[in-house]
Amino acid sequence: MDLRAQLADELEAARSQTLALLHPVSDAALTRQHSPLMSPLAWDLAHVGNYEDLWLVRASGGDAVGASYDHLYDAFRNSREERVRLPLLGPAGARSYLATVRGQTLERLEHVELGPDRPLFDEGFVYRMVLQHEHQHRETMLATLQLMDAPGYQPEVTPPPGGLAPTVGLRPAPSEVLVEGGPFVMGTTTDVSAYDNERPGHVVDLPPFWIDRLPTTNRGWSEFIAAGGYRDARWWSVEGWAWRCRAGLEHPGGWQRQGADAWSVDRFGHHQDLVLDEPVQHVCWYEADAYARWRGQRLPTEAEWEKAASWHGPSRTKRRYPWGAGAPTAELANLGQVRFGPATAGCLPAGSSAWGCEQMLGDVWEWTSSDFLPHPGFAPFPYREYSEVFLGSEYKVLRGGSWATHPAAVRTTFRNWDFPIRRQIFAGLRCARDA
Ligand code: AVJ
Ligand code: FE
Repeated sequence: MDLRAQLADELEAARSQTLALLHPVSDAALTRQHSPLMSPLAWDLAHVGNYEDLWLVRASGGDAVGASYDHLYDAFRNSREERVRLPLLGPAGARSYLATVRGQTLERLEHVELGPDRPLFDEGFVYRMVLQHEHQHRETMLATLQLMDAPGYQPEVTPPPGGLAPTVGLRPAPSEVLVEGGPFVMGTTTDVSAYDNERPGHVVDLPPFWIDRLPTTNRGWSEFIAAGGYRDARWWSVEGWAWRCRAGLEHPGGWQRQGADAWSVDRFGHHQDLVLDEPVQHVCWYEADAYARWRGQRLPTEAEWEKAASWHGPSRTKRRYPWGAGAPTAELANLGQVRFGPATAGCLPAGSSAWGCEQMLGDVWEWTSSDFLPHPGFAPFPYREYSEVFLGSEYKVLRGGSWATHPAAVRTTFRNWDFPIRRQIFAGLRCARDA
């Protein structure tokens, strides 16, 4: 298919997913603040339109659709907590702003030059950037919907063509895999969708290491709780223990004790029995770090995670996805807000990496031990506020995407980041250790 037609289709699909996600939500719930950590949903919605107004209308030479909204929807001008007090567009106003912007976008797309003269437009880069932005905000909105008070959120789920892959559960297989030492290529210079922080590709030489075949499950986490892991400072970093005490952490976000060793978990306002063989989610970096130490392991570095996910040793080649180059499908990875939760650990063996790690993409974001630092040779593009202003030791890197991440917004080089105390995101972990 012609690139313009493909981009137009992807823009259309992203928008119908965004509108469908919010369709079951009342105007009152779209306008209200559900958590000091999150924006009102109507802010995210109009912000998605304003970002498109800036990057697909104005940057291609068009007239602004809503220049007067820029100050309201600039993420750096007002904190998430303050946004509810701004004169924001209501849900209907936001939807109509999005539609008007989209009309301009599609008109301009027909004539815009997508060649190498302008890096912003080369091979449609800026369109992929705006698409990924909308997908990322849909994941952010889902984290907000998870925090919404009773009666909670009821998604209008459309099962994928061919249905969900069966969740066969854990197979007897080694719990860890060995990744041999030696150089691999980290990051990418050539991926047309890659953000500045994934660039450039560069060689990193690693000693051998062991890494878990599967993400840490709720079963492992309940054992940590039962063993008194939350009460024992030995397993925690100094900062982690201070945070554990201050925040009163005793279990992952959304868990509720139902008996001595039985738990239920809140899924969008509905309490369900905890499924022990599912990857644990809603743990912060400090908890993940403590859990790994209790297990006699540690979090993988970001480079270890990426090598285990993307490097094919025998041919010395890098894979965009753990299984190779083919686009994600339901048998390969649980992505795209289809299951509305992680899938049983071990149920997607077809998506294994060359080393035998499973479910590296999808299910839960995986905390790594690494700070969000620039790759050597990093250059901000196309704006400093996507990555550069966040670089440094305040943020920890997460990899691999979650069940709420769109397949077009993740790959083995993709880097996410958050503060080590945050756990409203769909984050878990996978443990590693020195060989
Ligand atoms: C890459 C998920 C950390 O949500 O702050 C959205 C993505 N950037 N709008 C974020 C993003 C601008 C970003 N993360
Ligand atoms: Fe944004």
